[in-house]
Amino acid sequence: MSETMADRIEIIQEDITRLSVDAIVNAANNSLLGGGGVDGAIHRAAGPELLAECRTLGGCPTGEARITKGYKLPARYVIHTVGPVYRGRPKDAELLASCYRNCFDLAGKHGLQSLAFPAISCGVYGYPMEEACKIVLQETKKALEKGGSNYRVTFVLFSFRDFTVYNDAFSK
Ligand code: APR
Repeated sequence: MSETMADRIEIIQEDITRLSVDAIVNAANNSLLGGGGVDGAIHRAAGPELLAECRTLGGCPTGEARITKGYKLPARYVIHTVGPVYRGRPKDAELLASCYRNCFDLAGKHGLQSLAFPAISCGVYGYPMEEACKIVLQETKKALEKGGSNYRVTFVLFSFRDFTVYNDAFSK
């Protein structure tokens, strides 16, 4: 990975709701009405106004992304994206790639300078972390190499194991 690229990417083990970045990404479900995992943590930390705004969005198809305010979160915005439920089909990779692409696109459209992702689909939705990492890396490289993009990206892992998987993948 090029020097400039590497210095715009950070990998940390943390609770994503604590990050004061322009936007944190939420691994949501199609209803956008909250759930468990990181979705539950973000809604708890943001407070009820987040759910109220999500209700106005009318859901989100898998692979797409929607942006809301961050409310009580230190982050200014939340970008909600719906990852694929892992079934071991080629479509899984296409949909996961589409999640990251659409999140980067929204960040660009809103002129965001800093963006933090959890490991989308790697929890309840069962996507193997190692496989997902390849897609994250590929889409992140494309986004950071795109002209005009100058945001910094943080990948936030909840467990040390997941942190080491990402670190290994990104240091190749
Ligand atoms: N900060 C960062 N990462 C977190 C946090 C947190 N506070 N909580 C969980 N994670 C990690 C998990 O360890 C996992 O690696 O986020 C990753 C994604 O896991 P899930 O939250 O289960 O998301 P996903 O696999 O995409 O499943 C989405 O779960 O919560 C429901 O409503 C959600 O139906 C949707 C489904």
